[in-house]
Amino acid sequence: MSVRSGVPVTRGNQLNVAVVGAGYVGLVTSACLAELGHRVICLEIDRDRLNELQSGRLPIYEPSLEDLVLGNVESGRLSFAGDYAEALAHAAFAFICVPTPPLDNGHADTRHVITAARGAVEHGAIGLTVVIKSTVPVGTGDHIAHLAVYRARADVCVVSNPEFLRQGTAVRDFFQPDRIVIGTKDHEAGRGVAELYSGVSAPVVETSRRSAEMAKYASNALLATRISFMNEIAALCDATGANVDEVARIVGMDERIGPHFLRAGLGWGGSCFPKDVLALASMAALHGRRAPILDAVMATNDGQREVALQRILDAVAGIDDPRVTLLGLAFKPDTDDLRGSPAIDIIGRLSTHGIDVRAHDPVTIPNAARLLPGIGYRTDAYEAVEGADVVLLATEWDEYLHLDWRRIRAAMRGDTVIDGRNVLNEAHLRRLGFRYVAFGRGGQDWHELVEMDEHRTTSQRGRRPGRNAANRVPVADSAA
Ligand code: UGA
Repeated sequence: MSVRSGVPVTRGNQLNVAVVGAGYVGLVTSACLAELGHRVICLEIDRDRLNELQSGRLPIYEPSLEDLVLGNVESGRLSFAGDYAEALAHAAFAFICVPTPPLDNGHADTRHVITAARGAVEHGAIGLTVVIKSTVPVGTGDHIAHLAVYRARADVCVVSNPEFLRQGTAVRDFFQPDRIVIGTKDHEAGRGVAELYSGVSAPVVETSRRSAEMAKYASNALLATRISFMNEIAALCDATGANVDEVARIVGMDERIGPHFLRAGLGWGGSCFPKDVLALASMAALHGRRAPILDAVMATNDGQREVALQRILDAVAGIDDPRVTLLGLAFKPDTDDLRGSPAIDIIGRLSTHGIDVRAHDPVTIPNAARLLPGIGYRTDAYEAVEGADVVLLATEWDEYLHLDWRRIRAAMRGDTVIDGRNVLNEAHLRRLGFRYVAFGRGGQDWHELVEMDEHRTTSQRGRRPGRNAANRVPVADSAA
Protein backbone atom coordinates (compact mmCIF):
# COMPACT_ATOMS: atom_id res chain seq x y z
CA MET A 1 0.00 0.00 0.00
CA SER A 2 1.25 3.47 -0.89
CA VAL A 3 -0.01 6.84 0.39
CA ARG A 4 2.18 9.37 -1.46
CA SER A 5 -0.79 10.67 -3.42
CA GLY A 6 -2.70 11.38 -0.21
CA VAL A 7 -4.99 8.50 -1.14
CA PRO A 8 -4.13 4.99 0.03
CA VAL A 9 -3.39 2.85 -2.99
CA THR A 10 -3.13 -0.93 -3.17
CA ARG A 11 -0.74 -2.20 -5.81
CA GLY A 12 -1.88 -5.04 -8.02
CA ASN A 13 -0.21 -6.95 -10.85
CA GLN A 14 2.46 -4.95 -12.60
CA LEU A 15 1.53 -4.35 -16.24
CA ASN A 16 3.43 -2.49 -18.96
CA VAL A 17 1.73 0.66 -20.12
CA ALA A 18 2.57 3.36 -22.65
CA VAL A 19 0.87 6.72 -22.30
CA VAL A 20 0.92 8.91 -25.39
CA GLY A 21 0.97 12.61 -24.45
CA ALA A 22 2.37 14.33 -21.37
CA GLY A 23 -0.28 17.02 -21.03
CA TYR A 24 -2.25 17.23 -17.84
CA VAL A 25 -4.35 14.12 -18.58
CA GLY A 26 -1.34 12.12 -19.79
CA LEU A 27 0.91 13.10 -16.92
CA VAL A 28 -1.73 12.45 -14.28
CA THR A 29 -2.64 9.12 -15.90
CA SER A 30 1.04 8.09 -16.17
CA ALA A 31 1.92 9.01 -12.60
CA CYS A 32 -1.21 7.48 -11.11
CA LEU A 33 -0.92 4.21 -13.07
CA ALA A 34 2.72 4.00 -11.94
CA GLU A 35 1.56 4.65 -8.38
CA LEU A 36 -0.82 1.72 -8.78
CA GLY A 37 2.27 -0.40 -9.44
CA HIS A 38 2.44 -0.52 -13.24
CA ARG A 39 5.52 0.13 -15.33
CA VAL A 40 4.70 3.22 -17.35
CA ILE A 41 6.51 4.95 -20.19
CA CYS A 42 5.04 8.33 -21.03
CA LEU A 43 5.66 9.42 -24.62
CA GLU A 44 6.07 13.12 -25.38
CA ILE A 45 7.01 14.22 -28.88
CA ASP A 46 7.63 17.85 -27.95
CA ARG A 47 11.40 17.91 -27.35
CA ASP A 48 11.40 20.86 -24.92
CA ARG A 49 8.64 19.37 -22.82
CA LEU A 50 10.38 15.98 -22.86
CA ASN A 51 13.69 17.52 -21.75
CA GLU A 52 11.92 19.33 -18.95
CA LEU A 53 10.28 16.12 -17.77
CA GLN A 54 13.48 14.13 -18.05
CA SER A 55 15.21 16.74 -15.89
CA GLY A 56 12.52 16.35 -13.24
CA ARG A 57 10.56 19.55 -13.99
CA LEU A 58 6.80 19.53 -14.56
CA PRO A 59 5.44 21.70 -17.37
CA ILE A 60 2.08 22.16 -15.60
CA TYR A 61 0.93 23.11 -12.14
CA GLU A 62 -1.27 20.45 -10.58
CA PRO A 63 -1.43 19.92 -6.81
CA SER A 64 0.47 16.82 -5.57
CA LEU A 65 1.41 15.73 -9.11
CA GLU A 66 5.06 16.69 -8.81
CA ASP A 67 5.65 14.42 -5.80
CA LEU A 68 3.85 11.60 -7.55
CA VAL A 69 5.85 11.94 -10.78
CA LEU A 70 9.23 12.32 -9.09
CA GLY A 71 8.56 9.51 -6.64
CA ASN A 72 7.59 7.07 -9.36
CA VAL A 73 10.49 8.10 -11.59
CA GLU A 74 12.78 7.43 -8.64
CA SER A 75 11.23 4.03 -8.02
CA GLY A 76 11.78 3.12 -11.69
CA ARG A 77 8.09 2.62 -12.47
CA LEU A 78 7.75 5.81 -14.53
CA SER A 79 9.95 7.09 -17.34
CA PHE A 80 9.65 9.37 -20.35
CA ALA A 81 10.44 8.69 -23.98
CA GLY A 82 10.45 10.69 -27.21
CA ASP A 83 9.52 8.04 -29.75
CA TYR A 84 6.89 5.40 -30.28
CA ALA A 85 9.28 2.50 -30.78
CA GLU A 86 10.84 2.97 -27.35
CA ALA A 87 7.57 3.68 -25.52
CA LEU A 88 5.61 0.85 -27.14
CA ALA A 89 8.27 -1.87 -27.19
CA HIS A 90 6.91 -3.82 -24.21
CA ALA A 91 3.53 -2.16 -23.70
CA ALA A 92 0.36 -4.21 -23.35
CA PHE A 93 -1.69 -0.99 -23.25
CA ALA A 94 -1.33 2.31 -25.06
CA PHE A 95 -3.28 5.15 -23.47
CA ILE A 96 -4.05 7.96 -25.90
CA CYS A 97 -4.02 11.23 -23.92
CA VAL A 98 -3.56 13.90 -26.57
CA PRO A 99 -5.61 17.06 -27.07
CA THR A 100 -8.68 17.41 -29.28
CA PRO A 101 -8.83 21.19 -29.76
CA PRO A 102 -11.76 22.85 -31.51
CA LEU A 103 -11.61 23.42 -35.26
CA ASP A 104 -12.99 26.68 -36.71
CA ASN A 105 -16.34 24.98 -37.28
CA GLY A 106 -16.53 23.82 -33.66
CA HIS A 107 -15.82 20.13 -34.34
CA ALA A 108 -13.19 18.44 -32.20
CA ASP A 109 -9.94 18.10 -34.11
CA THR A 110 -9.01 14.42 -33.79
CA ARG A 111 -5.83 14.63 -35.83
CA HIS A 112 -3.52 14.14 -32.84
CA VAL A 113 -5.60 11.19 -31.62
CA ILE A 114 -5.44 9.49 -35.00
CA THR A 115 -1.69 10.11 -35.32
CA ALA A 116 -1.12 8.77 -31.80
CA ALA A 117 -3.28 5.70 -32.42
CA ARG A 118 -1.47 5.03 -35.72
CA GLY A 119 1.87 5.29 -33.95
CA ALA A 120 0.71 2.90 -31.25
CA VAL A 121 -0.70 0.39 -33.75
CA GLU A 122 2.46 0.54 -35.85
CA HIS A 123 4.87 0.03 -32.97
CA GLY A 124 2.78 -1.91 -30.47
CA ALA A 125 3.32 -5.59 -29.71
CA ILE A 126 0.81 -8.31 -30.66
CA GLY A 127 -2.35 -8.10 -28.57
CA LEU A 128 -1.96 -4.39 -27.79
CA THR A 129 -4.98 -2.63 -26.30
CA VAL A 130 -5.35 0.99 -27.36
CA VAL A 131 -7.14 2.91 -24.61
CA ILE A 132 -8.62 6.24 -25.64
CA LYS A 133 -8.70 8.77 -22.79
CA SER A 134 -8.90 11.87 -24.99
CA THR A 135 -12.39 13.32 -25.37
CA VAL A 136 -13.33 12.31 -28.90
CA PRO A 137 -16.41 12.54 -31.13
CA VAL A 138 -18.64 9.50 -31.02
CA GLY A 139 -17.37 6.94 -33.53
CA THR A 140 -13.67 7.83 -33.20
CA GLY A 141 -12.92 4.57 -31.37
CA ASP A 142 -14.64 2.58 -34.12
CA HIS A 143 -12.65 4.53 -36.70
CA ILE A 144 -9.39 3.63 -34.96
CA ALA A 145 -10.43 -0.02 -34.73
CA HIS A 146 -11.03 -0.04 -38.51
CA LEU A 147 -7.74 1.69 -39.04
CA ALA A 148 -5.96 -1.09 -37.11
CA VAL A 149 -7.68 -3.77 -39.19
CA TYR A 150 -6.78 -1.89 -42.36
CA ARG A 151 -3.15 -1.97 -41.22
CA ALA A 152 -3.35 -5.75 -40.76
CA ARG A 153 -3.48 -5.41 -36.97
CA ALA A 154 -6.77 -7.13 -36.23
CA ASP A 155 -5.17 -8.26 -32.95
CA VAL A 156 -5.35 -4.68 -31.61
CA CYS A 157 -8.31 -3.90 -29.34
CA VAL A 158 -9.62 -0.38 -28.94
CA VAL A 159 -11.26 0.63 -25.67
CA SER A 160 -12.81 3.97 -24.80
CA ASN A 161 -11.95 4.93 -21.23
CA PRO A 162 -12.90 8.61 -20.86
CA GLU A 163 -11.30 10.71 -18.15
CA PHE A 164 -13.29 12.74 -15.64
CA LEU A 165 -10.33 14.51 -14.04
CA ARG A 166 -10.77 18.08 -12.89
CA GLN A 167 -7.74 20.33 -13.05
CA GLY A 168 -6.71 21.19 -9.53
CA THR A 169 -7.97 17.89 -8.10
CA ALA A 170 -6.91 15.55 -10.90
CA VAL A 171 -4.82 13.19 -8.77
CA ARG A 172 -7.58 12.77 -6.21
CA ASP A 173 -10.12 12.31 -9.00
CA PHE A 174 -7.98 9.54 -10.50
CA PHE A 175 -7.83 7.58 -7.27
CA GLN A 176 -11.36 8.35 -6.12
CA PRO A 177 -13.47 8.47 -9.27
CA ASP A 178 -17.25 8.28 -9.24
CA ARG A 179 -17.03 5.57 -11.91
CA ILE A 180 -14.58 3.94 -14.30
CA VAL A 181 -16.08 3.72 -17.77
CA ILE A 182 -14.89 0.97 -20.07
CA GLY A 183 -16.27 1.24 -23.57
CA THR A 184 -15.86 -1.93 -25.59
CA LYS A 185 -17.86 -4.95 -26.59
CA ASP A 186 -14.70 -7.06 -26.29
CA HIS A 187 -15.16 -8.37 -22.77
CA GLU A 188 -11.57 -9.66 -22.50
CA ALA A 189 -10.06 -6.32 -23.49
CA GLY A 190 -12.43 -4.52 -21.12
CA ARG A 191 -11.40 -6.78 -18.24
CA GLY A 192 -7.75 -6.07 -19.02
CA VAL A 193 -8.29 -2.32 -18.75
CA ALA A 194 -10.35 -2.72 -15.56
CA GLU A 195 -7.49 -4.76 -14.08
CA LEU A 196 -5.18 -1.75 -14.55
CA TYR A 197 -7.36 0.10 -12.07
CA SER A 198 -7.42 -2.61 -9.44
CA GLY A 199 -6.59 -0.75 -6.23
CA VAL A 200 -9.02 2.02 -7.13
CA SER A 201 -12.37 1.55 -5.51
CA ALA A 202 -15.13 2.67 -7.89
CA PRO A 203 -17.97 1.13 -9.87
CA VAL A 204 -16.77 -0.13 -13.25
CA VAL A 205 -19.28 0.49 -16.02
CA GLU A 206 -18.91 -1.59 -19.14
CA THR A 207 -20.60 -0.16 -22.18
CA SER A 208 -20.11 0.27 -25.90
CA ARG A 209 -17.34 2.48 -27.26
CA ARG A 210 -19.89 4.93 -28.63
CA SER A 211 -21.82 5.22 -25.36
CA ALA A 212 -18.59 5.79 -23.43
CA GLU A 213 -17.57 8.53 -25.85
CA MET A 214 -20.98 10.18 -25.65
CA ALA A 215 -21.09 9.86 -21.84
CA LYS A 216 -17.99 12.04 -21.55
CA TYR A 217 -19.48 14.82 -23.65
CA ALA A 218 -22.85 14.52 -21.94
CA SER A 219 -21.22 14.78 -18.48
CA ASN A 220 -19.32 17.95 -19.29
CA ALA A 221 -22.27 19.47 -21.13
CA LEU A 222 -24.66 18.73 -18.28
CA LEU A 223 -22.30 20.27 -15.71
CA ALA A 224 -21.97 23.37 -17.91
CA THR A 225 -25.76 23.42 -18.26
CA ARG A 226 -26.26 23.45 -14.50
CA ILE A 227 -23.93 26.44 -14.16
CA SER A 228 -25.55 28.38 -17.01
CA PHE A 229 -28.97 27.57 -15.61
CA MET A 230 -27.98 28.93 -12.20
CA ASN A 231 -26.56 32.02 -13.86
CA GLU A 232 -29.92 32.59 -15.48
CA ILE A 233 -31.58 32.15 -12.08
CA ALA A 234 -28.96 34.55 -10.62
CA ALA A 235 -30.05 37.27 -13.06
CA LEU A 236 -33.63 36.72 -11.93
CA CYS A 237 -32.49 36.86 -8.30
CA ASP A 238 -30.88 40.24 -8.99
CA ALA A 239 -34.12 41.42 -10.50
CA THR A 240 -36.33 40.15 -7.70
CA GLY A 241 -34.22 40.41 -4.55
CA ALA A 242 -33.78 36.67 -4.01
CA ASN A 243 -30.32 35.34 -3.18
CA VAL A 244 -28.94 32.76 -5.62
CA ASP A 245 -26.61 31.20 -3.03
CA GLU A 246 -29.56 30.44 -0.80
CA VAL A 247 -31.63 29.28 -3.75
CA ALA A 248 -28.81 26.96 -4.88
CA ARG A 249 -28.48 25.52 -1.39
CA ILE A 250 -32.17 24.78 -1.19
CA VAL A 251 -32.37 23.39 -4.72
CA GLY A 252 -29.24 21.28 -4.18
CA MET A 253 -30.73 19.66 -1.07
CA ASP A 254 -33.08 17.78 -3.35
CA GLU A 255 -31.39 14.41 -3.75
CA ARG A 256 -32.53 14.26 -7.33
CA ILE A 257 -30.56 17.42 -8.05
CA GLY A 258 -27.56 17.41 -5.69
CA PRO A 259 -25.45 20.37 -4.55
CA HIS A 260 -22.61 20.48 -7.09
CA PHE A 261 -22.01 22.86 -9.99
CA LEU A 262 -24.74 25.28 -9.01
CA ARG A 263 -22.46 28.21 -8.16
CA ALA A 264 -23.33 31.37 -10.08
CA GLY A 265 -20.79 33.96 -11.19
CA LEU A 266 -18.63 34.70 -14.20
CA GLY A 267 -19.44 31.29 -15.66
CA TRP A 268 -17.48 28.32 -16.83
CA GLY A 269 -14.17 28.28 -18.63
CA GLY A 270 -11.16 26.01 -18.96
CA SER A 271 -9.86 23.80 -21.69
CA CYS A 272 -12.74 21.32 -21.54
CA PHE A 273 -16.24 22.75 -21.06
CA PRO A 274 -15.99 25.39 -23.82
CA LYS A 275 -14.59 22.99 -26.41
CA ASP A 276 -16.75 20.04 -25.40
CA VAL A 277 -20.09 21.87 -25.33
CA LEU A 278 -19.24 23.39 -28.70
CA ALA A 279 -18.10 20.03 -30.09
CA LEU A 280 -21.31 18.36 -28.93
CA ALA A 281 -23.41 21.07 -30.57
CA SER A 282 -21.34 20.66 -33.75
CA MET A 283 -21.80 16.89 -33.56
CA ALA A 284 -25.54 17.47 -33.43
CA ALA A 285 -25.36 19.68 -36.52
CA LEU A 286 -23.22 17.09 -38.31
CA HIS A 287 -25.94 14.53 -37.69
CA GLY A 288 -28.67 16.92 -38.81
CA ARG A 289 -30.00 17.41 -35.29
CA ARG A 290 -30.75 20.64 -33.41
CA ALA A 291 -29.25 21.25 -29.97
CA PRO A 292 -31.07 24.33 -28.68
CA ILE A 293 -30.19 23.65 -25.04
CA LEU A 294 -26.47 23.51 -25.79
CA ASP A 295 -26.72 26.72 -27.84
CA ALA A 296 -28.45 28.48 -24.95
CA VAL A 297 -25.92 27.13 -22.43
CA MET A 298 -23.08 28.67 -24.45
CA ALA A 299 -24.92 31.97 -25.03
CA THR A 300 -25.73 32.36 -21.33
CA ASN A 301 -22.12 31.68 -20.42
CA ASP A 302 -20.82 34.24 -22.87
CA GLY A 303 -23.44 36.67 -21.55
CA GLN A 304 -21.97 36.48 -18.03
CA ARG A 305 -18.73 38.00 -19.27
CA GLU A 306 -20.63 40.76 -21.01
CA VAL A 307 -22.61 41.43 -17.82
CA ALA A 308 -19.32 41.75 -15.90
CA LEU A 309 -17.98 44.13 -18.53
CA GLN A 310 -21.11 46.29 -18.39
CA ARG A 311 -20.95 46.45 -14.60
CA ILE A 312 -17.35 47.62 -14.79
CA LEU A 313 -18.17 50.19 -17.47
CA ASP A 314 -21.08 51.49 -15.39
CA ALA A 315 -18.82 51.80 -12.35
CA VAL A 316 -16.13 53.77 -14.19
CA ALA A 317 -18.47 55.96 -16.24
CA GLY A 318 -17.35 59.58 -16.00
CA ILE A 319 -13.98 58.74 -14.42
CA ASP A 320 -10.87 59.99 -16.22
CA ASP A 321 -8.29 57.29 -16.98
CA PRO A 322 -10.13 54.57 -15.08
CA ARG A 323 -8.20 51.67 -13.66
CA VAL A 324 -9.58 48.20 -13.10
CA THR A 325 -7.83 45.43 -11.17
CA LEU A 326 -8.57 41.76 -11.68
CA LEU A 327 -7.87 39.41 -8.80
CA GLY A 328 -7.36 36.02 -10.39
CA LEU A 329 -6.57 35.05 -13.97
CA ALA A 330 -6.71 31.24 -14.02
CA PHE A 331 -10.03 29.77 -15.17
CA LYS A 332 -10.43 28.37 -11.66
CA PRO A 333 -8.27 28.07 -8.52
CA ASP A 334 -5.42 25.58 -8.11
CA THR A 335 -4.41 25.61 -11.74
CA ASP A 336 -2.17 27.82 -13.86
CA ASP A 337 -4.35 27.23 -16.91
CA LEU A 338 -5.65 30.31 -18.68
CA ARG A 339 -7.52 28.53 -21.45
CA GLY A 340 -11.12 29.69 -21.71
CA SER A 341 -10.61 31.85 -18.63
CA PRO A 342 -13.36 34.45 -18.11
CA ALA A 343 -10.69 36.80 -16.68
CA ILE A 344 -8.65 36.75 -19.89
CA ASP A 345 -11.77 37.32 -21.99
CA ILE A 346 -12.86 40.26 -19.80
CA ILE A 347 -9.38 41.82 -19.94
CA GLY A 348 -9.56 41.63 -23.74
CA ARG A 349 -12.97 43.37 -23.70
CA LEU A 350 -11.74 46.05 -21.26
CA SER A 351 -8.73 46.80 -23.41
CA THR A 352 -10.97 47.60 -26.38
CA HIS A 353 -12.54 50.28 -24.15
CA GLY A 354 -9.11 51.75 -23.41
CA ILE A 355 -9.25 50.89 -19.71
CA ASP A 356 -6.02 50.53 -17.79
CA VAL A 357 -5.99 46.98 -16.40
CA ARG A 358 -3.92 45.57 -13.59
CA ALA A 359 -4.00 41.97 -12.55
CA HIS A 360 -2.83 39.60 -9.89
CA ASP A 361 -2.83 35.82 -9.71
CA PRO A 362 -0.94 33.57 -7.30
CA VAL A 363 0.48 31.27 -10.01
CA THR A 364 -0.38 32.22 -13.58
CA ILE A 365 1.33 35.58 -14.09
CA PRO A 366 4.17 34.19 -16.27
CA ASN A 367 1.63 32.45 -18.56
CA ALA A 368 -0.59 35.53 -18.65
CA ALA A 369 2.30 37.86 -19.45
CA ARG A 370 3.09 35.73 -22.51
CA LEU A 371 -0.57 35.75 -23.61
CA LEU A 372 -1.45 39.39 -22.84
CA PRO A 373 1.79 41.38 -22.62
CA GLY A 374 0.32 44.88 -22.18
CA ILE A 375 -1.22 44.39 -18.72
CA GLY A 376 0.17 45.69 -15.43
CA TYR A 377 0.79 42.43 -13.57
CA ARG A 378 1.58 42.52 -9.88
CA THR A 379 2.76 39.63 -7.77
CA ASP A 380 1.25 41.20 -4.67
CA ALA A 381 -2.54 41.55 -4.49
CA TYR A 382 -2.39 44.73 -2.37
CA GLU A 383 -0.05 46.38 -4.85
CA ALA A 384 -2.34 45.33 -7.70
CA VAL A 385 -5.36 47.17 -6.25
CA GLU A 386 -3.53 50.47 -5.60
CA GLY A 387 -5.39 53.32 -7.27
CA ALA A 388 -8.05 51.00 -8.75
CA ASP A 389 -11.53 52.33 -9.37
CA VAL A 390 -12.97 48.82 -9.60
CA VAL A 391 -11.72 45.46 -8.36
CA LEU A 392 -13.10 42.36 -10.05
CA LEU A 393 -12.56 39.08 -8.23
CA ALA A 394 -12.39 36.67 -11.18
CA THR A 395 -10.95 33.48 -9.64
CA GLU A 396 -11.78 32.29 -6.15
CA TRP A 397 -8.22 31.51 -5.02
CA ASP A 398 -8.14 30.76 -1.33
CA GLU A 399 -5.81 33.67 -0.63
CA TYR A 400 -8.46 36.15 -1.80
CA LEU A 401 -10.85 34.90 0.85
CA HIS A 402 -8.37 36.02 3.51
CA LEU A 403 -7.44 39.44 2.18
CA ASP A 404 -7.48 42.49 4.43
CA TRP A 405 -10.28 44.40 2.72
CA ARG A 406 -9.84 47.42 4.99
CA ARG A 407 -6.35 47.77 3.55
CA ILE A 408 -7.73 47.33 0.02
CA ARG A 409 -10.38 50.00 0.65
CA ALA A 410 -7.63 52.42 1.69
CA ALA A 411 -5.48 51.57 -1.34
CA MET A 412 -8.21 51.90 -3.98
CA ARG A 413 -9.27 55.15 -5.60
CA GLY A 414 -12.83 53.95 -6.11
CA ASP A 415 -15.09 51.79 -3.98
CA THR A 416 -16.55 49.12 -6.29
CA VAL A 417 -15.85 45.44 -5.76
CA ILE A 418 -17.38 43.06 -8.26
CA ASP A 419 -17.42 39.57 -6.81
CA GLY A 420 -17.33 37.41 -9.92
CA ARG A 421 -17.50 34.19 -7.90
CA ASN A 422 -19.93 35.09 -5.11
CA VAL A 423 -17.41 34.17 -2.45
CA LEU A 424 -16.73 37.37 -0.51
CA ASN A 425 -18.39 38.42 2.71
CA GLU A 426 -20.89 40.95 1.43
CA ALA A 427 -21.90 42.35 4.83
CA HIS A 428 -18.25 42.90 5.83
CA LEU A 429 -17.41 44.65 2.57
CA ARG A 430 -20.47 46.88 2.77
CA ARG A 431 -19.56 47.80 6.35
CA LEU A 432 -16.13 48.88 5.10
CA GLY A 433 -17.83 51.21 2.63
CA PHE A 434 -17.48 49.18 -0.55
CA ARG A 435 -20.09 49.22 -3.26
CA TYR A 436 -20.44 45.45 -3.50
CA VAL A 437 -21.73 43.89 -6.70
CA ALA A 438 -22.22 40.15 -7.17
CA PHE A 439 -24.13 37.73 -9.39
CA GLY A 440 -27.58 36.99 -8.01
CA ARG A 441 -26.98 37.87 -4.39
CA GLY A 442 -29.95 40.23 -4.57
CA GLY A 443 -29.50 43.43 -6.53
CA GLN A 444 -31.25 45.25 -3.70
CA ASP A 445 -31.69 44.58 -0.06
CA TRP A 446 -34.67 42.29 0.58
CA HIS A 447 -36.25 44.76 3.02
CA GLU A 448 -35.99 47.57 0.51
CA LEU A 449 -37.77 45.39 -2.01
CA VAL A 450 -40.54 44.45 0.40
CA GLU A 451 -41.02 48.12 1.18
CA MET A 452 -41.09 48.98 -2.51
CA ASP A 453 -43.59 46.20 -3.07
CA GLU A 454 -45.81 47.37 -0.25
CA HIS A 455 -45.50 50.97 -1.34
CA ARG A 456 -46.58 50.00 -4.83
CA THR A 457 -49.55 47.99 -3.55
CA THR A 458 -50.71 50.45 -0.93
CA SER A 459 -50.24 53.58 -3.00
CA GLN A 460 -52.39 51.98 -5.68
CA ARG A 461 -55.07 51.82 -2.97
CA GLY A 462 -54.30 55.23 -1.46
CA ARG A 463 -53.01 53.67 1.77
CA ARG A 464 -49.80 54.49 3.65
CA PRO A 465 -46.85 52.19 2.91
CA GLY A 466 -45.48 50.15 5.77
CA ARG A 467 -43.33 47.18 6.54
CA ASN A 468 -45.82 45.59 8.89
CA ALA A 469 -47.54 42.52 7.48
CA ALA A 470 -50.81 43.88 8.89
CA ASN A 471 -50.58 46.70 6.35
CA ARG A 472 -50.39 44.28 3.44
CA VAL A 473 -53.44 44.00 1.29
CA PRO A 474 -54.92 40.52 1.59
CA VAL A 475 -55.49 38.74 -1.70
CA ALA A 476 -59.24 38.67 -1.00
CA ASP A 477 -59.20 42.49 -0.73
CA SER A 478 -57.82 42.94 -4.16
CA ALA A 479 -60.50 40.75 -5.58
CA ALA A 480 -63.17 42.85 -3.90
C1 UGA B 1 -14.04 19.45 -16.31
C2 UGA B 1 -14.89 18.33 -15.68
O1 UGA B 1 -15.37 18.75 -14.41
C3 UGA B 1 -14.07 17.05 -15.53
O2 UGA B 1 -14.88 16.01 -15.02
C4 UGA B 1 -13.53 16.65 -16.90
O3 UGA B 1 -12.73 15.50 -16.82
C5 UGA B 1 -12.69 17.78 -17.45
O4 UGA B 1 -13.51 18.97 -17.55
C6 UGA B 1 -12.20 17.38 -18.82
O5 UGA B 1 -13.03 17.22 -19.73
O6 UGA B 1 -11.01 17.08 -18.96
P1 UGA B 1 -12.22 21.18 -15.40
O7 UGA B 1 -12.23 21.78 -16.77
O8 UGA B 1 -10.91 20.91 -14.76
O9 UGA B 1 -13.00 19.77 -15.40
O10 UGA B 1 -13.00 22.20 -14.48
P2 UGA B 1 -14.28 22.19 -13.54
O11 UGA B 1 -13.90 22.03 -12.13
O12 UGA B 1 -15.30 21.28 -14.06
O13 UGA B 1 -14.77 23.69 -13.74
C7 UGA B 1 -15.12 24.18 -15.03
C8 UGA B 1 -15.54 25.62 -14.94
O14 UGA B 1 -16.80 25.74 -14.31
C9 UGA B 1 -14.59 26.52 -14.16
O15 UGA B 1 -14.41 27.71 -14.90
C10 UGA B 1 -15.32 26.81 -12.86
O16 UGA B 1 -14.98 28.05 -12.31
C11 UGA B 1 -16.76 26.79 -13.35
N1 UGA B 1 -17.74 26.48 -12.29
C12 UGA B 1 -17.71 25.27 -11.66
C13 UGA B 1 -18.73 27.40 -12.00
O17 UGA B 1 -18.78 28.50 -12.59
N2 UGA B 1 -19.69 27.08 -11.06
C14 UGA B 1 -19.67 25.88 -10.41
O18 UGA B 1 -20.58 25.66 -9.57
C15 UGA B 1 -18.66 24.96 -10.72
